[in-house]
Amino acid sequence: MAILTKAPRGTQDVLPSDSYRWQYIEKTALDTAAQFGFQETRFPTFEHSALFTHSVGDTTDVVQKEMYSFQDKGGRDITLRPEGTAGVVRSMIEHGTLNDALPVRASYVTSCFRYEKPQAGRLREFHQFGIEMFGSAEPIADVQVIAVADRIFKNLGISNIALEINSIGCPVCRAKYYEALISYFKGYSDKLCATCLGRLEKNPMRILDCKSPVCSDIAKDAPMVIDYLCEECAEHFDKVKQMLQEIGISYTVNPTIVRGLDYYRRTVFEFVSQNIGAQGTVCGGGRYDGLVEILGGNPTPALGFAMGLERLLLLMDTLGCEFPQPKRCDIYIAPLGKEATGKANKMVMDLIEEGFAAQTDMVGRSLKAQMKYADKIGAKFTVVLGENEIQTGRVMLKNMQTGVSREVCLGNDLLSAVYDITVSETIDQITEEYSSLLGK
Ligand code: HAM
Repeated sequence: MAILTKAPRGTQDVLPSDSYRWQYIEKTALDTAAQFGFQETRFPTFEHSALFTHSVGDTTDVVQKEMYSFQDKGGRDITLRPEGTAGVVRSMIEHGTLNDALPVRASYVTSCFRYEKPQAGRLREFHQFGIEMFGSAEPIADVQVIAVADRIFKNLGISNIALEINSIGCPVCRAKYYEALISYFKGYSDKLCATCLGRLEKNPMRILDCKSPVCSDIAKDAPMVIDYLCEECAEHFDKVKQMLQEIGISYTVNPTIVRGLDYYRRTVFEFVSQNIGAQGTVCGGGRYDGLVEILGGNPTPALGFAMGLERLLLLMDTLGCEFPQPKRCDIYIAPLGKEATGKANKMVMDLIEEGFAAQTDMVGRSLKAQMKYADKIGAKFTVVLGENEIQTGRVMLKNMQTGVSREVCLGNDLLSAVYDITVSETIDQITEEYSSLLGK
């Protein structure tokens, strides 16, 4: 049965040989955000469905077409999270976290689920790194949040990614804007898809991000929200732009960005790449000042972003960005014979206790096959352990990179030999990193 050996459409495995790439980007993102004061938060994979209909919005594509929703055995309406923001906000309200000193800053790495048509960079289960900041209505908060994403891209070695920003105003500006939008789209009511017809009176802005080619063609000439900003929103947006310039983050204003989720207000932004095909938006975010209140908390301005990790990896591969190789195996002990297997096992335990990555034979390979295996797993050193070595207590420690062997005694001598060499390697690496830093 193929169903047993084939993952569901739109999902992806991360194999053991590939996970270091994920760990690297996740750690880089979390560490960078931590430099800006964001600490990691974790929250459930599923929530009450109502959380998403109230936050993401019941006329959005995400809620209307893409959610994985079901009733659990207790009859509750449950949804696998299609995004992270709603869950973080719910968690902050539930635990009274927003009563602490503001701003409260949270970061996260999560899986998300959307029933979309899979293609390169678009999955049904995908992963996001995101941050959310609560408690600041000031433009500096918008700028810092954007700066976190910008710094993450820089730290990962991604240079050619474009920041596009827009302001979609507040409820005050929206009232006038909606009137203009409704009267524009009414002229095309015979052409709009059924979903958009339903959106026309309720939430006309959502027609702007409909994926149907006919609707998106009509939307191209629709009035733009940036032309309807109230004085406060326009001033806020001007400050954001000015402060971005001051810290050297370049951007273009893209008045067509409205984001596909209902909770946004004022600043919205996307980091877009031309290198990875149609799904080029690697990161999206913005302000959502009304959401905490909508979900039952005290009025609290808030904002954040999320970047898609699959798209980030795709981009890094396309650009040829480097991933530091993980530590796989410092030393491989190759035993010859049954007695040696036990000794090798003991040596591996001692080496591991000392903090080294050490392996030995698990499957009864010949010496030649063991050496081939040691090479394959990238062991830095090997030791052959036969009867003779056990009797004399002396072994040859082979450096697999240089091919040079040197005789050492078993026990402390071996430990310190491996230690010396791995430490000197680390020192070399640190020196190299420092000199490249100093050379900047
Ligand atoms: P979003 O734009 O829906 O925003 O998603 C953020 C990012 O997740 C996208 O830019 C993209 O990289 C990735 N993404 C979205 N859908 C898929 C998919 N089907 N397959 C692969 N990657 C995908 C949000 O989710 C907001 N919660 C962001 C936010 C946080 N706004 C404020 N705080």
